[in-house]
Amino acid sequence: MSETENKSVEITKGVNGLEKIILREIRGSSAEVYLYGAHVTSWKNEQGEELLFVSSKAIFKPSKPIRGGIPICFPQFSNMGSLEAHGFARNRVWTIDTDPPPLPPNVTNGVFVDLLLKPTEEDLKIWPHSFEYRLRVTLGPGGDLMLTSRIRNTNTDGKAFTFTFAYHTYFSVSDISEVRVEGLETFDYLDNLKNRERYTEQGDAITFESEVDKIYLSTPTKIAILDHEKKRTFVVRKDGLPDAVVWNPWDKKAKAMADFGDDEYKHMLCVEAAAIEKPITLKPGEEWKVRQELSAVPSSYFSGQLDPSKVLQSS
Ligand code: BG6
Repeated sequence: MSETENKSVEITKGVNGLEKIILREIRGSSAEVYLYGAHVTSWKNEQGEELLFVSSKAIFKPSKPIRGGIPICFPQFSNMGSLEAHGFARNRVWTIDTDPPPLPPNVTNGVFVDLLLKPTEEDLKIWPHSFEYRLRVTLGPGGDLMLTSRIRNTNTDGKAFTFTFAYHTYFSVSDISEVRVEGLETFDYLDNLKNRERYTEQGDAITFESEVDKIYLSTPTKIAILDHEKKRTFVVRKDGLPDAVVWNPWDKKAKAMADFGDDEYKHMLCVEAAAIEKPITLKPGEEWKVRQELSAVPSSYFSGQLDPSKVLQSS
């Protein structure tokens, strides 16, 4: 954990007494992460505006995953394997890692907390692999939110393991019909609503008028979510995560989910940095390191071209 006079890391109790960590930056931005799931449930800008969506019906109770924020999908994305949907990492209580192996300076700039997940005896029965998953959640000086994952195979039986992964980020948007996503146009995707058949996205920015559940493949490192009404642009920068899931349940699926309000689909969009099409295989002793960085900037800084370096400089 990092701490100086002007920024802070607070360990406190959240909903239902579950432990959470609050990160606060000098200029007023903040983030919250629950030990349950290593789940980021809040990310606020300097004005105190919430940037992530969490359902008003979210259930903060093990072993139900929290609906909203940033669930960690590991070691399985969705139902693409024999485990529970999106794997078990989001349903486990992580610990604070007080002595993590060092990370390069660009990841230590800001206020951060390190979390650790190791499998229990019960976990080993359903997924017979020893691993150490280290997650660093960093709030940068400008309010950017960075999630760095390091997953190591600690098997002593000489066996490799294979997994799929996603940072399942729920962005808060003013009105889904006013939102467009740039950076995924012309890329191939698997349509979860059509038996994961492969299609090619058209050439324009993506807009929303019905349920969407697509896995875009081998996508660029930067994706932008433009919220026209809020005049806000989110920029997702991802490193080591080739795929990107875009999900909005729309009205019918929303009604079918017990932990999601009927109309809440209008105010959220999931854009998930992921590794799905080509599962990751780690030999014993090997480590996989990936990163997602989120920024929120006024859309006026966004030229209409996907040039997040410009966006980031002006933030
Ligand atoms: C998305 C999947 O990532 O997560 C969808 O593509 C799924 O198919 C959604 O419905 C929500 O999953 P869950 O398990 O959190 O309800």
